[in-house]
Amino acid sequence: MVWTSHPVPRLQGVIRAPGDKSCSHRALMFSGIANGTSEISGLLEGADVMNTARAMAALGADVKKTGPGSWTVTGVGAAGLKSPGEDIDFGNSGTAARLMMGLMAGYPLEANLIGDESLSKRPMNRVISPLERMGARFKHDGAGKLPIRLSGSSTLDAIEYAPEQASAQVKSCVLLAGLNAVGTTRLTESRPTRDHTEKMLRGFGARLSVRPGSGNRQVVEIEGGQLLQPVDTVIPGDPSSAAFLIAGALISPSGGVVVENVMSNETRDGFFQAAARMGAAIGAEDTGDAAGERLIDLQAASGGLKGRAIPETLVASMIDEFPVLAVLAAFAEGETVVTGAEELRVKESDRIAAIVAMLRVNGVGVEERADGFVVLGCAGPPPGGGLVETHHDHRIAMSALVMGTASRNPVSIDDAAMIATSYPDFAAHMHELGADIREG
Ligand code: S3P
Repeated sequence: MVWTSHPVPRLQGVIRAPGDKSCSHRALMFSGIANGTSEISGLLEGADVMNTARAMAALGADVKKTGPGSWTVTGVGAAGLKSPGEDIDFGNSGTAARLMMGLMAGYPLEANLIGDESLSKRPMNRVISPLERMGARFKHDGAGKLPIRLSGSSTLDAIEYAPEQASAQVKSCVLLAGLNAVGTTRLTESRPTRDHTEKMLRGFGARLSVRPGSGNRQVVEIEGGQLLQPVDTVIPGDPSSAAFLIAGALISPSGGVVVENVMSNETRDGFFQAAARMGAAIGAEDTGDAAGERLIDLQAASGGLKGRAIPETLVASMIDEFPVLAVLAAFAEGETVVTGAEELRVKESDRIAAIVAMLRVNGVGVEERADGFVVLGCAGPPPGGGLVETHHDHRIAMSALVMGTASRNPVSIDDAAMIATSYPDFAAHMHELGADIREG
């Protein structure tokens, strides 16, 4: 179904950020294996997270919704996860698939894993290969793509592992398998990625150590055979979702937006740093904490943006924000250059190709590179008027709709359905701010 975002004079208002997707997945997984009952509030009830809730229930956890965003989970504890009586469907979610594979691998169970069209094209070898070294077994088409049959084991071997990619999903997968392995698992990442698994596992009583390695490396060690203890979790607001609203304010002809209750975590704030380098004035006010994270209210108003080279050191901390960064770059004066971001090729879509096509069809000059792209900013509103192919990618869909709020002509997308995977309230929040986004 085609949706169109029509230009509006301003985006203005105050929105409370929806719960963080990464923390929501982890809260369900960790409480689902803990030894007792945990309460979760502020859970993101997007389709991706709901797939994780269903998966944990199919594997034996007692997972109940008790109110909006409030869930009670009684974990399997020492009894462990069991073989599900149905296929485990991860839908569109790479995080659910890869983290759950690590979690399931440490129990003696058999499971068929499936996903939607987008997820079934994404590489799973990056988690299959360390899990096989630990002793889990997999059957698949040979290319390491879903559908996959997993056979776990209660006697996995701990390993030392240095993933090729700087990926929080791969790191988390190996650490979760390590939690149930025999011995100490050591993972060395080439540069720090989001640290929610480490922080939240500690919250659930696990012992693990994190220390700097050589260069930008970071070493995480986890001892096997640890039983998690239940804990109540308040999910902080999602900085990746907040980025769309902040970007909307920055490109708006006038007005200003406040996004409340956003998690402030240096492994997630690259987009806000990049926007500041481009000249955006983004204010932050401390408002407390949740789940061991600082919370802030973010404020942004429209302002002249300048194209910049994005430092490669920011890539991991803004890995999900490149589509919306590209929108800022389209409005900026001068060139914005993204390099070192080849991981974007294997996200929900080939995001480099999808970003380039999104800008091109809306009249913006852009050059595709193997590991990124170069945007020739329009020094103001780009022409717009294009129909963007979203390729089942929620972040391409939301970025294009944000772009339409301030382009010279409306911007359309071919399908808005995937937005519900990560930000079901996106259209409602955008309307509250004054956007004109409609079907057709
Ligand atoms: C996530 C990690 C990132 C990110 C994804 C969520 C997580 O993927 O793109 O949206 O919750 O661990 P990679 O770690 O594969 O880059």
